Order: sequence, then C-alpha cells, then structure tokens
Amino acid sequence: MAPVPISPIKVGHIDDVQELRKHRPTVIPERFVRDITERPVTACFTRDVPVIDFSELMKGEKEISRLGDACEKWGFFQVVNHGIDLDLLERIEKVGMEFFMLPLDEKRKYAMAPGTVQGYGQAFVFSEEQKLDWCNMFALGLEPRFIRNPKLWPKRPDHFSETVEAYSAEIRKLCENLLKYIAMSLGLKGSVFEEMLESAVQAVRMNYYPPCPRPDLVLGLSPHSDGSAITILQQGKGSSVGLQIFKDDKWVPVLPLPNALVINIGDTLEVLTNGRYKSVEHRAVTHRTKDRLSIVTFYAPSYEVELGPMPELVDEDNPCRYKRYNHGEYNKHYLANKLEGKKRLEFAKIQSNSSD
Ligand code: OGA
Ligand code: NI
Repeated sequence: MAPVPISPIKVGHIDDVQELRKHRPTVIPERFVRDITERPVTACFTRDVPVIDFSELMKGEKEISRLGDACEKWGFFQVVNHGIDLDLLERIEKVGMEFFMLPLDEKRKYAMAPGTVQGYGQAFVFSEEQKLDWCNMFALGLEPRFIRNPKLWPKRPDHFSETVEAYSAEIRKLCENLLKYIAMSLGLKGSVFEEMLESAVQAVRMNYYPPCPRPDLVLGLSPHSDGSAITILQQGKGSSVGLQIFKDDKWVPVLPLPNALVINIGDTLEVLTNGRYKSVEHRAVTHRTKDRLSIVTFYAPSYEVELGPMPELVDEDNPCRYKRYNHGEYNKHYLANKLEGKKRLEFAKIQSNSSD
C-alpha cells in the first residue's frame, strides 16, 4: 500500500489586513470577528509592569534581586538603560515600517508558505475555520546561520538587511546578559543558561497592526505564551497601546515607555526553572485610529538540546513538574499548533504533579 500522504494544510482565503483597510475600510470579515468570550473588553486594569535598570544590574545584588522578583511575580518587565544605541532602535523601526508600507506585490515576493513561520503573512493558521489576527507579520530566522532563508530577505526598503543584522547582533548580546543576570537571581552561576541552550536560535518578527474600525470585535494577536527562553519586544515610537498580559485573571496593558524594551519569560525558561519563573500569556489588541508596530526577538535553545528542569530547582517542596524533552521536538509541536494561551506547554508538563 502506498504511504498515506500528509494532507496539505488548507487555510482558506486570508485577507491581507492592510489591503482590506485600503479597499473596504469599514468591513470586518467574519473570520476576524472573535467569539464573544475572546473579545477584548475596553475596561483596563492598569498596573505598573516592573521596570529594570540594566545599568544597575552590573553593580550587583539589589537590582538583580528586583529582576528575580519581576521574573517570579510577573514574567514580564521593561528594561531601561539597556545600552543599545537608540539610533539603532529608531532605524529598525524605520525600515520595518517602510517594509510594511510597500505595495503588496513587493511584500508577497517574500510570502510565508502555509505552515511555516518565516516571511510575510500570517503565521499559525492551520485551518479554514480558524479566526484570524488583525495583523500583518514579517519574520526571519537569524541564528544559527543554517536557519536563514536568503530568499526571504527583502531587497527593499534600502538598508533593511544590514539594519536587521546590526540590530540582531546587539539584541543577542542583551539576551545573553539578561540570561546571565536571571541565572544569578536564582543563585546559580551566570553561565548556566547559555551552556544549556548551546548555540541559541534567534529569530525576529515584525508585527504591524493597522487601525481597526471595531477594535472591540477583533484581536491583533491571539493569546499565547512564547516558546522561547526569553523574548525581547520593541514597541514602535508613537504606536498605540496594544500589548496586554494576563495577570491575576485580568488583561493588563503594557504601556510603552520611551526607549525601553519589553522582556518576557518564555516556555523554555519555565521548564528549566521548574516553574519558578513562568511564561505568561499575552496578546495584542488594536486601536480604532492608530496603527502599531512591534519588533520581537525570540531567543531559544538549539534544536538539538535536551531540556528539563534543573536539578538545583527540584526538591521535595518543588517536585519535578516537567518532563525532559528534545527542544527540536517541542519547537515542531509549537509551530504545528495555533496560538492558544499556554496550551502548547502541556506538551512538557508532568500531569500528575502540575497544579496549574
Ligand atoms: C509575539 C507577541 C506582541 C506584540 O510576537 O509573540 O507577543 O505586541 N507580540 O506585538
Ligand atoms: Ni508573544
């Protein structure tokens, strides 16, 4: 008998949100309209997401302990004085925005194939029924080099590729340093995560959220946690408020702070720390008149690595909550499922021990 062919993914028609805005500015196709339970309510629960001063981390204990608190209680924080040239942050926003403003035909030269995550389009769409996010995305794999797909690196706008290169090199250093301090905040030696991740995988995704005539009906980005070890997110200057995190059963907006970067703990760090530092569910909402750009870097383990909770963080009071697994397998699982809260982390949970 012939082997059963793997059925191709049927995603149906996916409207490009920017084109939709241009040609039918008041229309919201059914596929974007969320079920009542998923719609964002307008009431905001403003609480201050912790702000960490990176330049203070080098000086020792006090800020490192604040960092530990931020990781443990929030899983999200903003970093100021991160040392990255502010001009570079501006430049990446500029080329990112210029890319999204190109004609559709130009952007489609770098189209994301269904079921993949690099290039221009909507990632994580797997069926014709699935609701769509009010967002256009462009993503590139960066490190290690073999994950790069040179055909997907845009020739326009000018300076796009070199800016992404320069930006990513700086962001990588920041990831390495943050992981060092995060390890220290757990009382571990600074190099412990770097050693575990081996040659870390780094990818960048630019999310462009056009204004939406009915922000109450749609989501910019479905709720999810990131599969990374950590994620660094840059909110575009002058962008609307859009990122929200799920904290104490409420959606809390992350208000953009000038020149700060937003950091969050990903699933990998949750597993490595045996749940002491948890990944946090987050989503993006849209705005009626303003657009929004975010530039998101995912920093994750090498695909070959075997991961599990670190023995230092497992004891009688904190029994092992996650199984050991190969990160490549986890990554495949992550990419093959739609964004749905923290559901994908179930893959790693030891069910009998998990209390949350
Ligand atoms: C992401 C993400 C939020 C945002 O890309 O994983 O959570 O504000 N983005 O764009
Ligand atoms: Ni995310």
